[in-house]
Amino acid sequence: MKNATFKNGDPIPQLGLGTWRSEPSEAYRAVKEALRIGYRHIDCAAIYGNEKEVGQALRDSFREGIVRREELFVTSKLWNSHHAPQDVEPAIRQTLSDLGLDYVDLYLIHWPLAFRKGIGMPQSKNDLIPLSQIPLSLTWEAMEKLVDGKLTRHIGVSNFSIEAIEKLNDGARIRPEMNQIEIHPYMQQDRLVDYCRDTGLLVTAYSPLGSRGNRVLKDPVVVAVAQKHDCTPAQAVLAWLMARDIVVIPKSVHEQRLRENFEATDVALDEDDMRRMASIERHERMSDGSFALFEDGPYTVYDLWGAE
Ligand SMILES: NC(=O)c1ccc[n+]([C@@H]2O[C@H](COP(=O)([O-])OP(=O)(O)OC[C@H]3O[C@@H](n4cnc5c(N)ncnc54)[C@H](OP(=O)(O)O)[C@@H]3O)[C@@H](O)[C@H]2O)c1
Repeated sequence: MKNATFKNGDPIPQLGLGTWRSEPSEAYRAVKEALRIGYRHIDCAAIYGNEKEVGQALRDSFREGIVRREELFVTSKLWNSHHAPQDVEPAIRQTLSDLGLDYVDLYLIHWPLAFRKGIGMPQSKNDLIPLSQIPLSLTWEAMEKLVDGKLTRHIGVSNFSIEAIEKLNDGARIRPEMNQIEIHPYMQQDRLVDYCRDTGLLVTAYSPLGSRGNRVLKDPVVVAVAQKHDCTPAQAVLAWLMARDIVVIPKSVHEQRLRENFEATDVALDEDDMRRMASIERHERMSDGSFALFEDGPYTVYDLWGAE
């Protein structure tokens, strides 16, 4: 497995397992199976509602000698309801307790959006808190303290535009080290990926297979590239992303697909394949953040995605 590398030399396996929309009991089985197959990177989040089951799978796998904690890279994310500085440490402590870990390897601000305490998904604009009340820079200061307290090794962001990253970088003591964003052949994000790379952030592609529905896997170009390499469309897409030095976290709860996705690391595309995959961009988001956009609400499309 190839690694990407943080500035201090710490590795992050380039392919990990996503856990969004894995039902709790499925998440337990998927994580255990993935670790048995050889996955050493698991992507979690408090809002996925399955960190306890992921944690049980980790504990059982440690006990059974399938993997050791030091060999594993675990990411989790701060939900939007915990942006107030005093809520950040309790949030990661809850995640650590659920996962049964002393530290995570990477902790991300999930979205550049603040919700009222206790809100999972907002029902009205009253569930939202404007960033003028809890600026992202204050949340970030609290994230930096988590590194000082050794609760996480690295900190970063998710769903952050260039504009949002620039605001954070301005006053940061520890600069964000990762931006986890939607990337697949229909949402390629070249400008944001280049910006991250130029300013020292690693990039993780979420929904690399186009998320639920996977229309991208039926695209004739993807299918043709896969046929040429005698691999599956999912493997072709993952190989294309990894060739761009992007970390990928495909989700599956099925053993055969877990194995198939893992084996994408063996597929090598050539320059012609890379050009063909690049040609099918559609700027099509699966996670558009519209759950936080209400008439007269505090957030706009620009707050989310900047001037893209
Ligand atoms: N930071 C964020 O805001 C954010 C947003 C979205 C996602 N994420 C993270 O990124 C991970 C991946 O994204 P995602 O779950 O949206 O989508 P994805 O990984 O692109 O696609 C998952 C879907 O593809 C299916 N699938 C998996 N492997 C397949 C294969 N080889 N062939 C055909 N279908 C396959 C899965 O079904 P089965 O499970 O039934 O196999 C599932 O329906 C998430 O799980 C989460 O950890 C983060």
